[in-house]
Amino acid sequence: MSRNQPSKPPQGLATQAIHGGEERPRPGNAISTPIFQTATFVFRDTAELSAHHSHQNRREEYGRYGNPTTHVAESKCAALEGAEAGLAFGSGMAAITTTLFAVLSQGQHVILTNDCYRRTRHFCTGLLGRFGVDATVVGTSPGELEAAVQPNTRVLISESPTNPYNRCVDLDHIAEVAQRHRLLTIIDSTFATPVNQRPLDHGIDLVLHSATKYLAGHNDVLGGVILGKEPIIDAVRDCQGILGGVMDPHAAYLLIRGLKTLPIRIERQNATAMKVAHWLEAHPRVTAVHYAGLASHPDHETACRQMSGFGGVVSFEVAGDLDETSRVVDAASIFQIAPSLGGVESLIEQPALMSFFELSTEERLGVGIKNNLIRLSIGLEDADDLIEDLEGALA
Ligand SMILES: Cc1ncc(COP(=O)(O)O)c(C=O)c1O
Repeated sequence: MSRNQPSKPPQGLATQAIHGGEERPRPGNAISTPIFQTATFVFRDTAELSAHHSHQNRREEYGRYGNPTTHVAESKCAALEGAEAGLAFGSGMAAITTTLFAVLSQGQHVILTNDCYRRTRHFCTGLLGRFGVDATVVGTSPGELEAAVQPNTRVLISESPTNPYNRCVDLDHIAEVAQRHRLLTIIDSTFATPVNQRPLDHGIDLVLHSATKYLAGHNDVLGGVILGKEPIIDAVRDCQGILGGVMDPHAAYLLIRGLKTLPIRIERQNATAMKVAHWLEAHPRVTAVHYAGLASHPDHETACRQMSGFGGVVSFEVAGDLDETSRVVDAASIFQIAPSLGGVESLIEQPALMSFFELSTEERLGVGIKNNLIRLSIGLEDADDLIEDLEGALA
């Protein structure tokens, strides 16, 4: 049996979140999976070592090649995403970079959508170029993707929904284009989580998450995970063994713990975000709200087709310039100013001063970031308290 397959797949998502990926009995008959805080693993004798090298027994060897706690986190993520296998990393960026290094070779080409996390874009358009891999950045509309395909295109990577505008790419269309051109598809589903969206069911090859966000969910751990078919995950694992971006066992423990409440957290975050989005849309000082759950969002139909909830990130524009927008951000009190998203604490940020601070207003507009844009990550506080906080800030 695969290391990544739970012994007995339970039924619903909430049940899988609690029990999926965890073997019974646990070591020491503990109810929670213990943290194997060890860098290396002991062999009884050289015969056991030889058996390990000839793949006769599957066991741990050295922390960079795997750890029992981390394997449980991987299996639980795989169970939730409906994937054959999973692999955890020390951060979302380690998952992205290691996966792309594993699947791309010199002379190949990658297509990515423009609303991608800026570090993913930097990696594809900057660093990969130094290794002879070209990248084309395209919009999310169906025609643009296909037009960018070249004879040497190998990978199509996109986020859905995207940051900060919650744009949604049509997953069926991506899978269909990729199949026709024999491309490998990767969807960064961080904003959606397996609760709101299941890209593998649409024919996507690999799903990626910054586990730092909703999966771990408590703003206290960095992590990343890639999920898909076993052979390709094995190839990425081999690359990880060289590049070394593994998840620490204590982080894996926190991820397992966080995942147990994922469905219930997401359900609540979906509901609160929808309430906040509707409230913002009706506010006289708000000029636009970017939430895929709203009928006014350009990708509302796509989102309704492929998502069962719209997530906890709500972006909106206020009537005002950079400084006036900053005053709104500064006036919030429950919402705290911080990068990241997906945790239990609600966060607020002005993208112009957070991720895009080094750009001029013109340069920011060139990448679609307006000075009056605010991004909220809705946490688990009471919706009415969050709305009251925003009401005070906007006043
Ligand atoms: C959509 C998305 N993907 C990937 C990442 C990178 O994840 P990490 O910060 O865990 O490296 C982020 C981080 O903000 C993100 O928002």
